[in-house]
Amino acid sequence: MKNFSIVVAFDSSYGIGKNGRLPWRLPGDLRRFKEITTGEDQGLKKNAVIMGRKTWESLPEKFRPLPDRVNVVLSRRRDFKVPAGVLCFQNLDEALTALSSLNNIGDIFVIGGAEIYASAMAHPLCQKLYVTHVKGAFDCDAFFPPISRQFMPISASEEYEEGGASFHFSEYLRSF
Ligand SMILES: NC(=O)c1ccc[n+]([C@@H]2O[C@H](COP(=O)([O-])OP(=O)(O)OC[C@H]3O[C@@H](n4cnc5c(N)ncnc54)[C@H](OP(=O)(O)O)[C@@H]3O)[C@@H](O)[C@H]2O)c1
Repeated sequence: MKNFSIVVAFDSSYGIGKNGRLPWRLPGDLRRFKEITTGEDQGLKKNAVIMGRKTWESLPEKFRPLPDRVNVVLSRRRDFKVPAGVLCFQNLDEALTALSSLNNIGDIFVIGGAEIYASAMAHPLCQKLYVTHVKGAFDCDAFFPPISRQFMPISASEEYEEGGASFHFSEYLRSF
């Protein structure tokens, strides 16, 4: 099975969401998210983004599916309906097995929310974390799980400011 990365933005309390939405508006972070998950032009291949049913539903209809990526929704409901071209699986392993068997899939990214991040962080094929650290606490009701000691920081960007919020990017790699 192919390995995968996580892309997440969390605040100083590991908060990622509030009332089913992102707690902040950071266009620079959304641009980076798009760049990382879409990747370089790979001809016929596309990267895949795996998300929980609630994160899928939190995307405004006009922005979903996320363009130029294979969108994958996880739901335990067998009958959850997704538009043509979007894939739906009942657990992370099922999704990873199916994506690994397709030869038009590039890199695989898990993009939230809290429940899916928890499954992904506990998964041995999770290799890399792309984190946006947002300074401060945003009174969140959804959280990222603790980062296991198996992950080591390998890079950190400068600090950026947008709409009164301060944030920086970092990457972590599984070291054992
Ligand atoms: N800051 C960030 O980077 C970021 C990124 C993404 C999302 N978010 C935020 O996170 C929040 C949503 O997180 P959430 O935890 O409430 O929802 P979620 O993880 O997006 O979706 C939860 C749903 O996914 C399905 N699911 C969960 N675990 C599964 C598993 N192991 N196998 C199969 N299906 C599974 C279930 O769907 P069914 O109920 O249909 O069975 C479950 O109700 C929102 O506030 C969103 O804005 C933040």
